Amino acid sequence: EKGGYDHFMMKEMVEQPKAMMEALLSRCCENSESFGELKLNAAMMENINRIQIVACGTAFHAGMVGKYYFEKFARISVETEAASEYRYKNPIVDENTLLIVISQSGETADTLAAIRLAKECGAWVLAVTNVVGSSIAREADDVIYTNAGPEIAVASTKAYVTQIGCMMLLAAYMGRLNGKLKEADSTRIFRNLMMTPGLIEKVLDTKETIKAFADKNYRINDLFYIGRGLDLYTCMEGSLKLKEISYIHSESYAAGELKHGPLALIEEGTIVIAVCTQENVFEKMLSNIKEVKARGAHVLAIVQEAHRDIASEVDEVWVIPEMDDDITAIPTIVYLQLLAYYLAVARGCDVDKPKNLAKSVTVE
Ligand code: F6R
Repeated sequence: EKGGYDHFMMKEMVEQPKAMMEALLSRCCENSESFGELKLNAAMMENINRIQIVACGTAFHAGMVGKYYFEKFARISVETEAASEYRYKNPIVDENTLLIVISQSGETADTLAAIRLAKECGAWVLAVTNVVGSSIAREADDVIYTNAGPEIAVASTKAYVTQIGCMMLLAAYMGRLNGKLKEADSTRIFRNLMMTPGLIEKVLDTKETIKAFADKNYRINDLFYIGRGLDLYTCMEGSLKLKEISYIHSESYAAGELKHGPLALIEEGTIVIAVCTQENVFEKMLSNIKEVKARGAHVLAIVQEAHRDIASEVDEVWVIPEMDDDITAIPTIVYLQLLAYYLAVARGCDVDKPKNLAKSVTVE
């Protein structure tokens, strides 16, 4: 049942290229995105003046990536909030609001409560979920299925990459509806996404390197992740994955925020993972790396191929192939999933069933 792997989590990480392909092909039409399943159309979108993305945990991180894409491709400003916050904050939501919820299981109690609240106020609710016929799928006005296939391990992996893929397509679709995105750009976005299964494969091929790093470092007590732009969300997700399955304390920070406090925690030997896949902030990341190196940090950088020579500045480098900066979040998270996995295994943790956690949080 685990397909020959030791854990469901490994099986599901390995299934990511296929899951991504399923997610993309089910909404592809002539090399561009197509959302034939949506009732939401251009006329309805004209009445929408507020978009909110609400989710929990890993799905919430996919929501933040989604916000980035919505703002970039459709030039629509988006609010993102954890469902457990949204529902108790008297949110500004009315019949001109589009609420997008993201949930792998489709059963998360807080996310479901957010839907009910927004619907009562007249909002249009679009759910991005993996489970057909789930409560969230049934209660939303529109549903986009991520088609990742069943996810059994508590730590979400393949569902996350497909959520990001769907959010990118949805943002491009919205950009086409409101005229902010040119047809050629939406085709380019789709083509880039179609490359992600192969890119994920490339990262999966480096498993042994990551395992070796984990076997050497599994006794650590803390791990820091820093990044900017899209890389920040990858850091947040990587940090969550690590905490949940290996029980190692970790922090994720916007690299520019370091000197506003957390830099004080960096000492001789602290491992800092610097995710540097975004060209527009690459130089800024380099100066942040120098800041932590000056305090004795052991730095592992993740970069695109063209920046492989960052090796002279850091202690270790993991490389992703050259690609459009907008899709790096997809292969990069696979490195951080594998790292969390191998650290957890080295520490003897029950990877598929971490303590205190349940696969779907149906209680509040
Ligand atoms: C992390 C994880 C959780 C879930 C969260 C939301 O690996 O699995 O953080 O992402 O409980 O669950 P869904 O997506 O089912 O609403």
